[in-house]
Amino acid sequence: MPARPPQFKEGKTLLGHVGPFSKDPLNFLGKLHSQSEDSLSFRLAIVPAVYVSKPEDIKEIFRRPQIFTKGGLLVDQARKILGNGLPMSNGTFWARQRRILSNSFRAQMLQSYIEIFDQRTNQAVNRWIEKSTSKPYDIFQDLARTTMDVSVEALFGASVSSDEQETILASIDHSLIEINRRLAKGDIFPLWLPTKANAKLRRAIGEFRDIILRVIEEKNRQADPDYTIINLLLATKDEETGQYMKPEQIIDEIRSFFVAGSETSASTMAWTVYELARNPEVYQKVEEEVNEWWTKGGEMNIHGLMELPLVNAVVKEAMRLYPAVWIQTRAVSETTKLGQYSIPKGASVFFSAYWSQRDPNIWNDPNNFYPERFLNGLTTEQEMAYFPFSTGPRKCIGYRFAKLEMVTLLVNLVRKATISLPEGFEPGFNVQGSLIPEKGILMHVREK
Ligand code: HEM
Repeated sequence: MPARPPQFKEGKTLLGHVGPFSKDPLNFLGKLHSQSEDSLSFRLAIVPAVYVSKPEDIKEIFRRPQIFTKGGLLVDQARKILGNGLPMSNGTFWARQRRILSNSFRAQMLQSYIEIFDQRTNQAVNRWIEKSTSKPYDIFQDLARTTMDVSVEALFGASVSSDEQETILASIDHSLIEINRRLAKGDIFPLWLPTKANAKLRRAIGEFRDIILRVIEEKNRQADPDYTIINLLLATKDEETGQYMKPEQIIDEIRSFFVAGSETSASTMAWTVYELARNPEVYQKVEEEVNEWWTKGGEMNIHGLMELPLVNAVVKEAMRLYPAVWIQTRAVSETTKLGQYSIPKGASVFFSAYWSQRDPNIWNDPNNFYPERFLNGLTTEQEMAYFPFSTGPRKCIGYRFAKLEMVTLLVNLVRKATISLPEGFEPGFNVQGSLIPEKGILMHVREK
């Protein structure tokens, strides 16, 4: 067997690198990235960990999900709260769920979501104009709510009342806060322990569950099924086993969709608009592209929205600089070779889209917003080092949904408004969950 990756020595204590990792995870991984040629070993208390920076090795991790499984400290903690939905599951169970859930992202379904994106992002832009007349408005907070509303509508259509909607959103919010709090505090106690925090969390999850069970009953009675994700999940039989998904599993999948899809999309959209405000010359070119497309009869559908190369490049470039999923981790199920090194069974493997996508050895001017790089074509090495949605069999199942939502927002924004940032505004990073702007994204939005 080849040797283990060399040790990263800096900042090590009795608990290994737990201290620097939990204090400033983004910059801790940044140090590992800049010091490693391909992989470096470190330690999180008793768990051996490996940071992987070489794009070929990261690709290999994506290609072998049976060895590099979903597990380890971060995922195990989240699984306790989110259940065994698609992002958390492994093996044949994951493969079956993935087959069934893929139906939710077929072209016909995507078309029905575009109508929701169009309506909701138009309302958002109008709200931004109205709310930022006297002082700048936080468009990130607004987008966080908008993406949640979009998810509710795509999942359930008109089947939840506004009270139920508020309960759903509060439950997801509370779950996210609790995952982050438990991770930050190293709270590894099981959910059944009778603590105050556990009781509150169990109540929030229970309320969510009751609403979904009621909607399932209603949908089962509905004569004409509509284009909602929940209907599809109820109606789809797995081709291999012939079985329908059980309600408890549907609940886990739906909670996972909310968590995986809402904040990630909101932060990416907010960062994209932020970069456009900082780069007025790009905003102007985007306006020109959209206006020309619109005058020539451009349509808000899957094909129409793909006819906007610069808009799509803007979204890609924003995702290069601000990948919402900035850190990824896998648990190694058996000792294996990765590149030139041996990785032991039980190790946690880490890699980072944020650092790979800003690596100065791979990207020219890595910290600059330059969407044209995607129009000019990436090198093979850049292609490999770019994975905001991940790649391989576990690539984000919602990536088309997310891209179409982002492009729709930009079309509606540039057609209607001009944008600017308050003087000297610096949003900062909060990396507890996805990569979100710490101070929000404050913006002046004026009607054209
Ligand atoms: C800009 C927005 C988004 C970004 C950046 C993003 C990114 C990602 C990434 C990087 C992964 C892989 C995580 C890993 O394996 O470690 C992932 C998985 C996943 N995403 Fe997304 N995502 C976004 C939006 C969405 C949306 C809108 C949905 C659902 C509607 C969604 C649902 C999922 C699910 C269910 C998985 C797990 C897939 C599996 O393991 O088979 N995501 N996403």
